Amino acid sequence: MSENIQLIKVSMDYQDSFMDGLKECEKESSEQAWIYVHEKDLALPKESFSSYIETLLDYEFTAPEFFVRGITYWAIMGNEVVGRLGLRLELNEELEKLGGHIGYIVRPSFRGQGIASKMLALALETDYAKDIGKLLLTCDLNNEASERTILKNGGVFYDIVELESRANKKRFWIKL
Ligand SMILES: CC(C)(COP(=O)(O)OP(=O)(O)OC[C@H]1O[C@@H](n2cnc3c(N)ncnc32)[C@H](O)[C@@H]1OP(=O)(O)O)[C@@H](O)C(=O)NCCC(=O)NCCS
Repeated sequence: MSENIQLIKVSMDYQDSFMDGLKECEKESSEQAWIYVHEKDLALPKESFSSYIETLLDYEFTAPEFFVRGITYWAIMGNEVVGRLGLRLELNEELEKLGGHIGYIVRPSFRGQGIASKMLALALETDYAKDIGKLLLTCDLNNEASERTILKNGGVFYDIVELESRANKKRFWIKL
């Protein structure tokens, strides 16, 4: 099934499906990862979907406050948004420890079907990723699904970052 996935930049065309996914993520409190804009803009998808899309598209060219430039992709299967993947075009001090170049979330009702693995594989094929060349990926120490996703896509374990205020992170490098 996951072979039919396409990775697209965010688009007005999938508003209904994105909002369905948002409801699912709200139920497990992962809506911030699904929406993925600066904290002050988290209400945007509900207030003005077109401004939300514009804001995300603009992040490719203008870094949001306290963050870096990046591309937000949606994974589309059939007519549904089934995942979100963020590809950061540069790292800052925090991303070097916590988030790395790529972060992703799969819509809860579509998990366990190979979607994260396929999304990451497609992201690594983009020119943006090729230009970066060596990508840092991280996951929480106990996030087995994310770790396997990274390892399946060529991730090589680097180290564990110990953090005081949250779960420790494993870091991996993927060299293209
Ligand atoms: C982590 C996440 C993205 C995985 O998405 P997914 O589409 O379900 O992953 P896949 O189906 O591609 O599975 C990837 C691997 O993890 C394994 N896996 C999937 N769910 C798992 C689970 N709950 N526990 C353990 N392993 C799991 C799969 O078997 C597969 O490994 P394999 O091919 O070696 O068998 C998804 O669970 C998610 O969105 N979680 C919340 C957000 C998150 O944790 N993001 C990552 C931040 S680093």
